[in-house]
Amino acid sequence: MSAKRTAESAAGRQSEAAVPSVDRPAERAAWLRSELERANYAYYVLDQPDLPDAEYDTLFKELQGIETAHPGLIVPDSPTQRVGGEVAEGFTPVVHDVPMLSLNNGFADEDIAAFDKRVADGLGIASVDYACELKFDGLAISLRYDDGKFVQASTRGDGATGEDVTANVRTIRSIPLTLKGTNIPKRLDVRGEVLMFKRDFERLNARQREFANPRNAAAGGLRQLDPKMTAQRSLSFFAYGIGVLDGADMPPTHSGLLDWYKEMGLPVNAERAVVEGADGLLGFFRKIGEKRDKLPYDIDGVVYKVNRRDEQDKLGFVSRAPRFALAHKFPAQETLTQLLAIDVQVGRTGAITPVARLAPVFVGGATVTNATLHNEDEVRRKDIRIGDTVIVRRAGDVIPEVVGAMLDRRPDDAREFVMPTACPVCGSNIERLPDEAIARCTGGLFCPAQRKQALWHFAQRRALDIDGLGEKIIGQLVEQNLVRTPADLFNLGFSTLAALDRFADKSAQNLIDSLEKASKTTLARFIYALGIRHVGESTAKDLAKHFGSLDPIMAASVEELLEVNDVGPIVAEAIHNFFGEAHNQHVIEQLCTKVSWLEGPPAPKAPQGVLAGKTIVLTGTLPSLSREEAKEMLEAAGAKVAGSVSKKTDYVVAGAEAGSKLAKAEELGVPVLDKDGMKKLLEGVTP
Ligand code: IVH
Repeated sequence: MSAKRTAESAAGRQSEAAVPSVDRPAERAAWLRSELERANYAYYVLDQPDLPDAEYDTLFKELQGIETAHPGLIVPDSPTQRVGGEVAEGFTPVVHDVPMLSLNNGFADEDIAAFDKRVADGLGIASVDYACELKFDGLAISLRYDDGKFVQASTRGDGATGEDVTANVRTIRSIPLTLKGTNIPKRLDVRGEVLMFKRDFERLNARQREFANPRNAAAGGLRQLDPKMTAQRSLSFFAYGIGVLDGADMPPTHSGLLDWYKEMGLPVNAERAVVEGADGLLGFFRKIGEKRDKLPYDIDGVVYKVNRRDEQDKLGFVSRAPRFALAHKFPAQETLTQLLAIDVQVGRTGAITPVARLAPVFVGGATVTNATLHNEDEVRRKDIRIGDTVIVRRAGDVIPEVVGAMLDRRPDDAREFVMPTACPVCGSNIERLPDEAIARCTGGLFCPAQRKQALWHFAQRRALDIDGLGEKIIGQLVEQNLVRTPADLFNLGFSTLAALDRFADKSAQNLIDSLEKASKTTLARFIYALGIRHVGESTAKDLAKHFGSLDPIMAASVEELLEVNDVGPIVAEAIHNFFGEAHNQHVIEQLCTKVSWLEGPPAPKAPQGVLAGKTIVLTGTLPSLSREEAKEMLEAAGAKVAGSVSKKTDYVVAGAEAGSKLAKAEELGVPVLDKDGMKKLLEGVTP
């Protein structure tokens, strides 16, 4: 169980009086089971954890202990059985008593309008109510509950016959082993989707890097012969349909069915709505489209279902899909194409990125011809070769990437990628440090590619904001060797600029004016513009605020840099190295004769207050106090609030889910305080 549980509320838990004592094992076990399942429900279905992790683990171990001592007390719906039992030989076929159908697809607005018209005409009514839900990108399964007990799970298979995956599905914590409430049918087949949340996929892939996407990982998880492996996959489930129902009334609407599911403790996704007509459908589609990237799981569209069951029945089915439902799909984010070549690109810091040149293909709403391959190891790991048919992914605004190769389509003459040893732009050596994933051109600002990018970064809106200095002009300036460093920009004369290709007198004058304007800047912008590795806009601001002027930043030791808000060892090291390099010092010196900013107020030398001279690090979540508030309180008392723990740290204030900083404090023997300890400190009481 994840550390996300908190002990905030104990609502819904049984009163202490009802708890059976340990000397009545059968009753005690039954109580433990219900308590653990209730906690699972609160955590996985309601998303309102109410039992601390440690307490869950204690109860779980106690139940395991009872079951080991009294094997007769083990029942299949015990939470201990979720961790995975016997390894199977294979999967037994299961015939679906009600077939599992598929959905017809629509893409364009006209498809949706046509669907709505077909439905309205078929029913002979003017306006139709639809239940709208997400189209989850996972695998359909059917869960069978007899008298409210989970007894079987089967995959969709060919729709008529699937495979028995009960042992694997039992490991999915959000699936109740026992249904809640009083209106429990004699038999119920719940249909829904098994999927893997993106965060679980990332965790899995960080270790194994085996799957192209969460859907494949979920599919692999369901088909594990060893349920223990499934349990490790952290799969999830959402209910959206029904097969056999016996011994209870069918709710009159689809939305009513989902409400009933929720009452019984089944996970039902909250992103659903009942809408009217085609406009309502398209409104839902747009709303979900905007949210799509922020959802914690993948979806490939939305699903519309006629809400009233009597109307559904009236419309019936065509071949293998219902007439009453439609999947409205997003444009595919993945597609296949040919990998024509792999070139390398040189980035601002010299990073060499392999880039896939692709046969043009339409994916995710745009034509893609290039895609990143990230780095050399990625190319090997994904086993991508020139000539392969590759899977290209373009999701939202993310840069297109090559996900993998279709090995069964690999031509005999497919070639492996070889990282060049010399920079294709400047010919300098390409070097890769032993513990780094990235190969770099060693040419520094001698390399025109790096120079162009450094200049481009320097001129960016959020840096010096040099209006009119675009990529094309930078290209010419570098290629004609007119500009070698950012400082050279300020020496450009009118006649030099006016002589550039496609540059009129007016644009030359405009650029000179904007250089003049850009030369009055702020310290934070200037630092950001330098393009120091790992120093983004916000770190640049923090540096400017902390030190007040440039000289102390350039002179700062790694230790001193670590005292800056949110600056950790890697960033501190990068800043220190940057300013230590003679070439950079020289460029800065030149720049300082051209560029100016108002010096900020010098960093207060001797702060007043009970915590004057103390360095404090905040980590984790403090109860009812935001990090910002805590920081303000500490700073008001004269303390310096630093971003990472070092020998110079006087105290670490740690809240819930404190991680590496807490460990570091313990390692260095820095005193650790909780919120109360911090309060005492502010009152002048030293622990
Ligand atoms: S209903 C009779 N609802 O899409 C209709 N399916 O193309 C049966 N899917 O195999 C399916 N989200 O794996 C339905 N909210 C949703 C869905 C959904 C995803 C999948 C499911 C099914 C496929 C049909």
